[in-house]
Amino acid sequence: MIVEDPDRFGLDLSSGGAESRRLNVLEFGAGTGLVSLAVAKLLDILPSFNHCEVSVVATDFYPSVLANLRSNIDTNFPPTHNQISSAHSITTHFLDWSSFSTTPRPDDLSCPFDIVFGADIIYEAQHAVWLRDCLKGLVRRPSDGAASPAAFHLVIPLRPTHTFESSTVESVFLKACDVDPNDDADLVIVSKESIVCDAHGDYTRGQGLDEDVEYVYYKIGWSNAQL
Ligand SMILES: C[S@@+](CC[C@H](N)C(=O)[O-])C[C@H]1O[C@@H](n2cnc3c(N)ncnc32)[C@H](O)[C@@H]1O
Repeated sequence: MIVEDPDRFGLDLSSGGAESRRLNVLEFGAGTGLVSLAVAKLLDILPSFNHCEVSVVATDFYPSVLANLRSNIDTNFPPTHNQISSAHSITTHFLDWSSFSTTPRPDDLSCPFDIVFGADIIYEAQHAVWLRDCLKGLVRRPSDGAASPAAFHLVIPLRPTHTFESSTVESVFLKACDVDPNDDADLVIVSKESIVCDAHGDYTRGQGLDEDVEYVYYKIGWSNAQL
């Protein structure tokens, strides 16, 4: 989805006056890093990033996952120190959602992020709450004066075994239309879209290989921003 339509994820700056801009991109629970790697590969292809300095930070908390993530980044960006080009970078960092608000913030996570990605990261009852708390400290606020509003792009599979966990996204984040504009700024669901994928050949599902898999794509942003 990102590669087919980067603009949708705030990644085509051709219309937004990207001259000399800096863009900070974060991924939660990056796993193998596929999302961050795809974004980083796009940066060198999309002409709109020529004059924009982009930092991609792929995070996870599990030591062996982080080691594999680092290795995947080195394999995909072998030249000097993971520098994609002179203006862009991709790095990995430890980030545990459950302890983010109670531990000191490392330098790599100190800048406000413009675009945050999360793929398949809601499968425990507390995940949505923890992620909301992380987002509040990490997502750029509209008052920071960025050209376009910051957003968290979350895609989750709707697993029949995890209906409660999936539903927590909508109990933790209100819909933008349900928020009182006089209330303090909060993180809200700006849009929700159902995606059905043909899972034919998905080896992880064992039986029933011809089943479709349904995902939901949530775009989450600050309630007082124009998204
Ligand atoms: C199902 S995997 C998804 C990986 C990747 N985003 C993808 O779509 O392939 C969930 C990831 O979230 C990470 N994760 C789970 N709990 C976490 C936590 N409390 N803090 C940070 N990462 C966590 C796991 O280590 C794992 O890499």
